[in-house]
Amino acid sequence: MPYIEELKNISSIGIIKLNNEEEVLCMNSLAEEILRLNSHVNNRNLKELAPLLYEGSELKTEIKVGGKHLILERHNCYKYSLILIFNITSVKTCSSTNIDRIMKTNGTYYSFKSIIGNNKDFRRSIDFARKIARNNSSVLILGETGTGKELFAQSIHNASNFSDGPFIAVNCAAIPDTLLESVLFGTVKGAFTGAKDNEGLISQADNGTIFLDEINSMNLNAQAKLLRFLQDRNIRSVGDNKQRKISCRVISAVNRDIEQEIKSNKLREDLYYRLATVTLHIPPLTQRKDDIPLLVKSFIKKYRDQFNTNIEKLDDDLLNLFMEYNWPGNVRELEHVIESAMNMVEPSEKTLKRIHLSTHLLQKFLTINTSDNREESPESYSSQKHLNEILDEVERQVIIERLEKYEGNITQAAKDLGIFRQALQYRIKKHEIEYQEP
Ligand SMILES: Nc1ncnc2c1ncn2[C@@H]1O[C@H](COP(=O)(O)OP(=O)(O)OP(=O)(O)O)[C@@H](O)[C@H]1O
Ligand SMILES: [Mg+2]
Repeated sequence: MPYIEELKNISSIGIIKLNNEEEVLCMNSLAEEILRLNSHVNNRNLKELAPLLYEGSELKTEIKVGGKHLILERHNCYKYSLILIFNITSVKTCSSTNIDRIMKTNGTYYSFKSIIGNNKDFRRSIDFARKIARNNSSVLILGETGTGKELFAQSIHNASNFSDGPFIAVNCAAIPDTLLESVLFGTVKGAFTGAKDNEGLISQADNGTIFLDEINSMNLNAQAKLLRFLQDRNIRSVGDNKQRKISCRVISAVNRDIEQEIKSNKLREDLYYRLATVTLHIPPLTQRKDDIPLLVKSFIKKYRDQFNTNIEKLDDDLLNLFMEYNWPGNVRELEHVIESAMNMVEPSEKTLKRIHLSTHLLQKFLTINTSDNREESPESYSSQKHLNEILDEVERQVIIERLEKYEGNITQAAKDLGIFRQALQYRIKKHEIEYQEP
């Protein structure tokens, strides 16, 4: 879950996430450092690990340790709490956005402010999502993997009337078929051998939002039960004879071709109509490549702070490679590439370059120039080499002709070729084309 992962990335405030038993679920490295704990603290009771933080059973509000003056704040959230540790000598360096972000105590990390992108179609999706956040209709989010469906779902929740309530995300593909029904709807003691009273996730989402991710992976029995819930908003736990009214917003997501999923009976058509009162489409990165520089900038900033490097930007050559590539894993893949490259830089370096990519990544970027990589496996590249060579030749020829036609004006030639200016520059370099600038 991004929320837990992201806690670890915040470097200016010590953060400890605890369950209701006061056991550590996770903490960031600053908390480990301030309290001089090592990283094997998960599932251990904080009172035993760091008794100095407590006065009897209560958390202290301030302590002095190792010359540091620390302010402690407890935020009780849904089924867990966050302990924030401010070293007041450094609190001025906390950016207010970081504080804003960790203060979201409803199980989310993202809001509309976190969504990066200026592309026209993408902005349209954001505007649409902002509008639909205001009412209670069920929303179905459609988009390829890594396009930001969860980001949008959390943002809608945080801009909705349900934002004070919990955001409960359920990855339907990750829960075994046999458990899904009881996980969603809950069980009462004795419903089946070993069954305990267990509140289901839908019930936990009361007054909040339930996010049903990969809804097409839900088995048909659970789909039938979900349909009944969507019709009358009542749930009945497994083994229970009483019904309970639940008021929550339902957001679902699918990262596959929805029509195909209905045709192949993976998703009930009647359920689809209930879930898709409003449908939100998120464009894939390949249709919003003009956002790549902006996304890259933001990921560089994120990992620069995290990895303590001095990288400020990407060089043009690497940007060209990125503009050429088709990003089957969308924004998530782009973020991972930047993260991976940022691992390779030296402290003195200021620019991220092709040499920072692993051989595997570089090969992936270089082999796609003349073909659509979205369906290809690395094995298929070598068999296309000959074809690539032919296409390279044709490409070179076409570029030379177009540059002549526009007397070396790259912007016009790129426009005529239907590619980005940077993409054309990259190809000119690649083919070592000499041309007369206007
Ligand atoms: N527009 C964006 N701005 C900033 N970060 C983004 C954007 N879109 C996606 N991301 C980042 O990309 C990653 C993937 O996003 P998310 O989990 O929302 O994708 P998804 O569509 O739910 O993918 P999947 O179908 O695989 O579950 C996250 O780390 C998220 O922060
Ligand atoms: Mg997702």
